Amino acid sequence: MARPSITLKLATTLDGRIATAGGVSRWITCEDSRRIVHELRSMHDAVLVGIETALKDDPELTVRLPDYEGGQPRRIVLDSRARLPLSSKLVQTARVIPTWVVTTTDLPREMLAAQVRQIKVPSKHQRVDLDAALEALATAGIESLFIEGGGVIATAFLRAGYVDRLEWFRAPTILGGDARPVIGHLNIENLSQMYRFTRLAVQAVGDDLWESYELS
Ligand SMILES: NC(=O)c1ccc[n+]([C@@H]2O[C@H](COP(=O)([O-])OP(=O)(O)OC[C@H]3O[C@@H](n4cnc5c(N)ncnc54)[C@H](OP(=O)(O)O)[C@@H]3O)[C@@H](O)[C@H]2O)c1
Repeated sequence: MARPSITLKLATTLDGRIATAGGVSRWITCEDSRRIVHELRSMHDAVLVGIETALKDDPELTVRLPDYEGGQPRRIVLDSRARLPLSSKLVQTARVIPTWVVTTTDLPREMLAAQVRQIKVPSKHQRVDLDAALEALATAGIESLFIEGGGVIATAFLRAGYVDRLEWFRAPTILGGDARPVIGHLNIENLSQMYRFTRLAVQAVGDDLWESYELS
């Protein structure tokens, strides 16, 4: 199957949490880490989030760096039931910076009029079929994909074995076991089934630690 190369970005506490139990997540990591995330965005053809992140955070997913004159990555939302609001920043700016919605249904006419691109794929377990989605994105010219969450999407890509690289930003904080984990259930029974990565680099960024890994 043709698919883009995939980098998963994670921004967590020391104990691997991405948000409080109630979903408050801004900001876990420091400003310097977030600037590097913008640099990483600029190195990919597209940035992808799950619909819950789009609904909760209303992100722009753009590269916003002083003096940056390069292009903007496409912004992609995995949204099986076409719930992305017309009022969201991603839709409101779709005319200027491409926004694609990977869905199993038809987008409302107003979304298409706002120049949101619909990528309709079959469903699997009532959600976007990841294989079909990635194949469609590769066909549409996406060679590198930067996944920015949330936890459900990160878990789905990891389980499917599609994470080639990790960019992990870790703040010196602890949120505890009732907060939202960065990775959900993987149903691993033996340690031999663990996902193993090779560390490529570690760097202190402000108070945070930035670790880069590739799949072993
Ligand atoms: N710290 C960080 O790095 C970071 C980054 C991003 C977000 N966040 C936080 O994470 C929270 C949101 O994350 P979340 O884990 O609740 O949701 P999410 O990963 O943003 O979105 C999950 C949703 O994506 C849709 N989806 C479509 N196809 C899918 C597939 N094949 N597999 C899995 N999901 C699929 C599903 O909704 P449908 O079934 O409706 O399609 C699913 O519920 C927010 O609080 C946000 O602020 C933190």
